[in-house]
This record gives sequence, structure tokens and C-alpha cells, in this order.
Amino acid sequence: MSEQAAAAACGLPPHHTVRSFDLDPLGALEEGHRRHGPVFRMAVDGQETVLVGTWAGLVELFAGERGCLEVLNTPLVHDLFGRALFNLTGEGHAEARRRLRPALSGRALPGYLPALLEVTDPVAARWAQHGVGDLYTEVRALTGSLSARVLLGIAPETADSAVFAAVFEPFVAGSGAPPGRDRFMTGRYWAGRAARRRLYALFTRRAAAAVAEPGTDSALAGLVAAFADASQAVGPLPDHLLALLIAARETTASLITWCLVELAGNQQHAVLAQTEAHVAVATPEVLARRDAVPVLRAVLAEAQRLHSPNLLSLRETVCPVDLGGYRIPAGTRVAYSTSAGHFDPEVFPQPHTFRPRRFLDGEARGARLWAFGGGAHACLGRPLAELMALTVMASVLHQGVPRLPGGPPSRIRYRPAKAPLTAVPLVLDRQEIAS
Ligand code: HEM
Repeated sequence: MSEQAAAAACGLPPHHTVRSFDLDPLGALEEGHRRHGPVFRMAVDGQETVLVGTWAGLVELFAGERGCLEVLNTPLVHDLFGRALFNLTGEGHAEARRRLRPALSGRALPGYLPALLEVTDPVAARWAQHGVGDLYTEVRALTGSLSARVLLGIAPETADSAVFAAVFEPFVAGSGAPPGRDRFMTGRYWAGRAARRRLYALFTRRAAAAVAEPGTDSALAGLVAAFADASQAVGPLPDHLLALLIAARETTASLITWCLVELAGNQQHAVLAQTEAHVAVATPEVLARRDAVPVLRAVLAEAQRLHSPNLLSLRETVCPVDLGGYRIPAGTRVAYSTSAGHFDPEVFPQPHTFRPRRFLDGEARGARLWAFGGGAHACLGRPLAELMALTVMASVLHQGVPRLPGGPPSRIRYRPAKAPLTAVPLVLDRQEIAS
């Protein structure tokens, strides 16, 4: 009996062989689903993994998730992040989400807009004046400032912003240490642990200040109040703050980068979006309204579709689970692609072309996008991430239309988030606003 036939007899999905997953991961996934359907097996980073893709595949995965699939995090992630949201399970996880959500979405968002613009406006003005040597590096720094401002109430160019930047970097470097026992042999793991302690001291100080002088321009006072009477099962607020800061970082920087890259390559849309940007800078509340700034929102949706920041999200089955007609045994590594269905030509004609108009004409629906995941662990920061991206686009377009003098990025990496591999310079071509 062949290996495939033997596996099928045990209920396992077919195996897909790829030569190099890292070279063209989306191509490898597309080919696997084309040949085998929504569910197949493949080696990812040398480990056998059940891949789930296509729109229908993800709907089925999330429907059967609770109690059967857990986020697969390494011992390193458990060590550094403690009882952060993505390390929790069951009722403690659901309760922590309920407590975190109000400060990250809905009515809280318009209150953050002045603070977001306070960060983005001067940066966009600097870009317009001097240009940008490497777009991703600049956007990463900007995203860090936006997160520090909204999540911790730290304004740019203050003493605490310098402390935060100096301590967060070694923490991030620590999260790149070997995932298993080998981590104990590396300096960056121990530097990451020390940075975690210093970050917690900073969080405690900022939380005390937010309680003493509560405002609506940062999420911190709301988060402190939401966790004041939380049980141990929900995890401590500092662990969650660390998770929010890390979850926001590479992903949001990636999405903003691709929005700007695509605006630069599609001047017609950029000019259309610029009209909305001028209005948004004068009346920022439109950025938080779902029925306003349709062109900017269409650019955001199309960038999510074509450039989903995350590549794969990992799970482990903790009981047998049925997926795509196969019974997957407990203890299996499962991954889903956040681009699942994004390149289906039936749903998104000309799937590899940037066409934001598809979301304006009603030809495509945002509900078909998985860039922010789904199910029990769907991204809790989506509304804030989208608001940050819209604010950056508005500030930038208000200054000028983006252009890439060296052309679009030619080499791309997909992990930890999709980003150009080499420096991408950007300039803003100023346009006269009619008097
Ligand atoms: C463009 C930006 C972002 C993208 C594409 C993104 C994407 C995702 C995805 C795909 C997941 C699900 C992971 C899984 O299934 O295991 C996730 C989870 C999460 N995200 Fe985001 N994210 C973004 C920004 C943010 C921001 C700004 C925050 C916080 C302010 C945030 C906080 C979280 C948290 C806490 C989780 C874990 C949820 C849980 O385990 O219950 N994300 N994100």
C-alpha cells in the first residue's frame, strides 16, 4: 500500500510535497489546495502539518475549534508572555477577551483619533520634506509610536517614549531566541527576560498615571478598570499589554507598508483617496465611521486581500477533529492560511491584481477576507489596526501622492509578517490644494 493510501485509510488527508516552502509559500499553498482541496498535509519548517485553506475550509475549522484546537505556542512564547491572551484557553481566554475588547473597539476608537494624528501628522510632514530611505523601517517605527501612544498613553519624544523604545527592542529580540530548551543558552533570551521585567515596571507606572488622570485618548485607563476585579484565570493586565504591543507591531507595519506601496503604484486611486484624506485631516471622526472614506477603506480591504500580513496561524488538536471529510487525530499540528480564498478567481476576479474598486462596486465583500483570522482567537486589535492604517494613509496623502523612485519591492519575506526584503525608498509628490 502506498504512503498516501495508508494515510487515507487512517483518515489523514493527502500529503503535498514542496521543494521550498519559504521561497514561494503562497504559491505552494495555492498548488496544494488546487490538487487536494481544502485540507492536505505538508512539511512546514520540517514538521508534518495539516494545512487548512479555502473559504469553506476555514469556516469548517472555526466552527469546530472550541475545545478541540488550541493555539500552538512554543515554550519560549509561554515563558516570555506568561498568561497573555494567546496563551490562554477555555473560559479564562473567553473572559479575558471580553475584558479587553471594549478598550480596543467600538465607542472607544473615536477618542484615540487626536492622539493618532498627533503621531502621524509630523511624521508625514517629515516624509514629504525629506523623503523616506526605507519605507518598512520607517513604518515600523511609526507603528511602534502609535501603539505606545494609544495602548500606554506614551507621547512621542518624551522620557517614557525613549525608555519604551530602549526596552521593547531587546524584548522583541528575546522572542526570536530558539523556541525550546536551547533558549537558556542564549544571551538574547536572558536579555528578553530582563527587558520584560523593565517593561512591567513601566506599565505599572503608566497605569498609575492613567488612573490618577483618566482620559479618553488612550486605552490604558479603560483596561486598568476592566481588569481591576479579574480573577487569576484571566491573566494579569501586564501580560495582556505585552501581547497587544507585540501583536500590533509587525502586522500593522506590514499592512500600512503595502497600502502605501500599492497607492504609489496606482496613482489614480491615490488621487481619489487624497480627496478623502484632506477631509479626514480636518474632520478626523470620519476615519472611525464605517460609512465614510469609502476609497481609503477599499484600499485597506484590497491590501488585506493581496498582502495578508500573517502567513500561517498554528493550532494543535487536543481531541479528534473532522476537517474536509478527514478525521484528524488528537496531537496533530494544524495550520490555517490567513490568505485562504483571497486568490479565488470566482470570488475575486483578476486575483493577483490590486483592484480596490472591487470593494467599491460591491463586486467583492470584506466578509470574505481572513487577514485578521477568525474563530475563538480572531484578532482583537482589528478595529484599532484598521484605524491606525487609515490615519497613516490620511496623514500621508494629505501631504502628497506617494511614489517609489526605485520601483516596487522586488524581493519579499513572508515571516514574521509580509514585508519587503530590501530597502524601498518613497517620496511624496506634493499637489496644490485649490484655493
Ligand atoms: C494589520 C494588523 C493586524 C493583523 C493582520 C493581525 C492579524 C491577526 C491574526 C491573523 C490573529 C489570529 C491568530 C490565530 O489565529 O492564532 C490575530 C490575533 C490577535 N491579534 Fe492581531 N493583527 C493585527 C493587529 C493587531 C493589533 C493592532 C492588536 C492589538 C492592539 C492585535 C491583537 C491581537 C491579539 C491580542 C490576538 C490574539 C487573540 C486571541 O488569541 O484570542 N492585533 N491577529
